[in-house]
Amino acid sequence: MGEKGAAGDNISFLLSLRAVREFRPDPVPEKVIGDILEVARLSGSASNKQPWEFVVVWDRATLRALAAVEGYAYHLKDAPLGIVPVMAGEREEQESYDEGRLCERIMLAAKAHGVGSSIGWFVGSGVAEVKELLGIPQERRVRSAISLGYPDGAARRRRGAPARKPLSEIVHEERYG
Ligand SMILES: Cc1cc2nc3c(=O)[nH]c(=O)nc-3n(C[C@H](O)[C@H](O)[C@H](O)COP(=O)(O)O)c2cc1C
Repeated sequence: MGEKGAAGDNISFLLSLRAVREFRPDPVPEKVIGDILEVARLSGSASNKQPWEFVVVWDRATLRALAAVEGYAYHLKDAPLGIVPVMAGEREEQESYDEGRLCERIMLAAKAHGVGSSIGWFVGSGVAEVKELLGIPQERRVRSAISLGYPDGAARRRRGAPARKPLSEIVHEERYG
């Protein structure tokens, strides 16, 4: 910690990634969205299958509708945009892992541009409703959306330190336990 130079800067950047669910209404420039999608496209995946496509949503009525389906993606309601990863729906275990990597990379690329983001999951009937709303074929897998926008400053100031377990509780040396 406190290391100077590029490594220190990069570690500080990684340490600063938080979920942002409250946004200013300012639009996110196309160039920024392009960078985010390019970082997503270049993600590694199991067997390099790249089992993903993306639906980028700006339309306010659609974002509101997505926020309202069963699940926890309510923060899409006031986000300037959302990205919904659409997974191939062929290899559940691998695609779940790939999707997690993808979402984290989208969040990091956004953060590099000062854009905040949060994952939101669709569950239960929400999944079919999202497919219907976005015209996604039934056989594809949809689980997550990522809300994106410039963080609302007041909301950011209200936040405390990230609640995380200390390393002493989660790291084992040589053997577990
Ligand atoms: C797999 C996964 C699913 C998540 N699902 C949701 C969700 O449905 N809705 C939501 O608001 N946040 C969701 N989050 C964000 C977590 O709540 C967040 O990462 C956690 O509370 C830590 O927040 P912080 O990094 O701001 O401290 C999800 C995160 C992950 C990794």
